[in-house]
Amino acid sequence: MKEDILQMLKSRKDFVSGQELCEYFQVSRTAVWKVIGQLKSEGYEIEAINRKGYRLIASPDILTEAEILSGMTTEVMGRHVYYYDCLGSTNDQARMLAEQGAPDGSLVVAETQNTGKGRMGRAFFSPEGSGIWMSLILKPDIPPMDASMITLLGAMAVQEMMERFGLESGIKWPNDLVIDHRKTTGILTEMSAGPDVVNYIVIGIGINVNMKEFPEELKEPAISMAMASGQTYHRAEIIRRVMQYFEVNYRQFLKEGNLAFLKKKYDASLIHLNKEISIHEIRRVWRGISRGINDIGELIVSVDGEETTVRSGEVSIRGVYGYAE
Ligand code: BTN
Repeated sequence: MKEDILQMLKSRKDFVSGQELCEYFQVSRTAVWKVIGQLKSEGYEIEAINRKGYRLIASPDILTEAEILSGMTTEVMGRHVYYYDCLGSTNDQARMLAEQGAPDGSLVVAETQNTGKGRMGRAFFSPEGSGIWMSLILKPDIPPMDASMITLLGAMAVQEMMERFGLESGIKWPNDLVIDHRKTTGILTEMSAGPDVVNYIVIGIGINVNMKEFPEELKEPAISMAMASGQTYHRAEIIRRVMQYFEVNYRQFLKEGNLAFLKKKYDASLIHLNKEISIHEIRRVWRGISRGINDIGELIVSVDGEETTVRSGEVSIRGVYGYAE
């Protein structure tokens, strides 16, 4: 009920009377009053005037379930939110919740992570109050070998969100988001599967949103959306947009079984399209020209005029773009 009351307050410029809230949600005045009290204690600025009711003046930049859900426009993605002040890793928590039966599209969000995980076993810097550390649980009916395509959908959704907020970001295949040669978003996809069946997939997304600076010891040069634009962002709004864009592409992917529909847009976002890159595999490093993705999301690389493909997973590409993965 809290998110519904919040949603109603958000949708009105003017006062909403206590009476209307009681009648609409079929609850007592005391119940409404309690919710308003809770919202105020969470930082919502709400004006309350006798005989007029309540008016929302400002929403805090918090990531609670009610704040994320109020205004969510998706059907499935992010419709169940599990919010925590602090977690080791939202991916680990999401895996646990998925095992326990959390439904498709559940979203795990933490204000901060103590042991945020990056790709290749690296740590991921996840401080409090300025970023988005979230993991989306998916339970698609697809063969396990198709799962790597979903990771590209995550990157595309974040890229589209940034575009929506006027920021030009690029993708470093398969799923880093880069602005000005610096990393702004990292994505870590994990899967539980049998030989032919996916039990669940967790897409962990870390977005640098409102940081003003980063510690110097970070391995990769990082940038936040705020550093790139000089503005600050309401993080719940960003989450809702990412869910919205992800849902649209994910549906189409499930319908068509591949990424042919997205290829053109994805390639146009690649920071290294037609540029030289080096590909770091576990036992070898080689170089080639990146030619964009094929229909199943593999990176096409041409070496001495011959085209070969690279699957995501234990591969990292490094380019000429100022930071090495
Ligand atoms: C990378 O760039 O190497 C991937 C980083 C992924 C970070 C996100 S933050 C939310 C989720 N929880 C984690 O522990 N990792 C992912």
